Amino acid sequence: MGLSFSMLRRLCRLWALEGHVDRLDRYHVSGWAARPGGRAPRLSIVVDGKVLDRIVPGMVRSDLRKIYRRPVQLGFNYVFDPPLREGAQVAVTDRFGQNVAKSPGRVPAEPPFDPASLNDGLSTAVPPRDLIFLVVGHRDPQAFAVSRRPAVDFLLERLQAAGVDVSSLRTILDFGCGCGRVLAGWEHVLPAQARLIGCDINPRLIAFCQAQIPFARTFVSKFRPPLEGIQSGEIDFAYAASVFTHLEPADISLWSKELARIIRPGGHLLLSFHGAGFDDVVARISDTGPEQLKATGIYTHLHSDPRRTSSGSNDYATFMTQSYVVGAFPLFEAVEILAGSSNAFMAGHDIVMFRRR
Ligand SMILES: C[S@@+](CC[C@H](N)C(=O)[O-])C[C@H]1O[C@@H](n2cnc3c(N)ncnc32)[C@H](O)[C@@H]1O
Repeated sequence: MGLSFSMLRRLCRLWALEGHVDRLDRYHVSGWAARPGGRAPRLSIVVDGKVLDRIVPGMVRSDLRKIYRRPVQLGFNYVFDPPLREGAQVAVTDRFGQNVAKSPGRVPAEPPFDPASLNDGLSTAVPPRDLIFLVVGHRDPQAFAVSRRPAVDFLLERLQAAGVDVSSLRTILDFGCGCGRVLAGWEHVLPAQARLIGCDINPRLIAFCQAQIPFARTFVSKFRPPLEGIQSGEIDFAYAASVFTHLEPADISLWSKELARIIRPGGHLLLSFHGAGFDDVVARISDTGPEQLKATGIYTHLHSDPRRTSSGSNDYATFMTQSYVVGAFPLFEAVEILAGSSNAFMAGHDIVMFRRR
């Protein structure tokens, strides 16, 4: 017996494919997909007509709660390894060959970059795109490079506002320096007698700093204290651009104590964190995060499978209230807190300047 027209129509409705591609570039394709009612479908990632892989969406998408009237995990973020060529055609389809919206699409060209156009007087080379991605989550060399000097200008302004005579600084530490974005910006403005030190847990990033930034001493540090080779009270000023945004509460507490050990009494510590300006992000990525943040002042979200990542990676995103941050650094006094602003040090983050008691 054949299928009647109305049965066929009902089946088609049941197996329709909803969702769309949010972002496609050489490195990944992300978006969401669902069957009507919010069941996760099995999807094929098709590149230039060939099935590259099969996936089932599994990432929380709180923004879809309104549509499906319950918490759903319908997001996907598929990483191309190795990266695709520009112009490759990418489709996200189901087993009936149905596409999500904005699929298929072509991998767009990367923004062109001419280092000579920077004209910022800095001699440090701009890191390769994959290193940039590891620290700031995009691969745009221009956007990375233009923040180097202004980030240091921002630090100098905040130090002056805290009453620090910048020319008296002797030892400056960039904690979690990545591939030297802020370190590079100190060229020509580092006080004559000052030593610039940088540390990071990622050896690839430190290898770049060691090869390209001769005016800073950089080294690979351990994920947890101590910072080997740094004496108690040796540091006048330490800063951390988007490092505490990736640490869990117990590690924040350990690093608070260690930074208090190495910063001299009266010395300063400036750090950036995801403050109230990120409340909408917490609401989008997690069903329980907003409540947890309200109740405890802190929420750490893991963006990926815990077996495929490690603490301190950008897969961990930590959000904190200002009072949590102040309470987490009891050996420091908060002398200034700036709510999320467009500063070049770390755009959108809250900034706190502490003085060591
Ligand atoms: C978002 S990136 C920012 C890098 C750099 N501060 C910048 O602004 O370009 C965070 C950096 O913190 C580093 N990191 C994470 N946990 C760390 C830890 N416990 N000690 C030192 N570095 C850490 C990561 O390896 C990464 O390079």
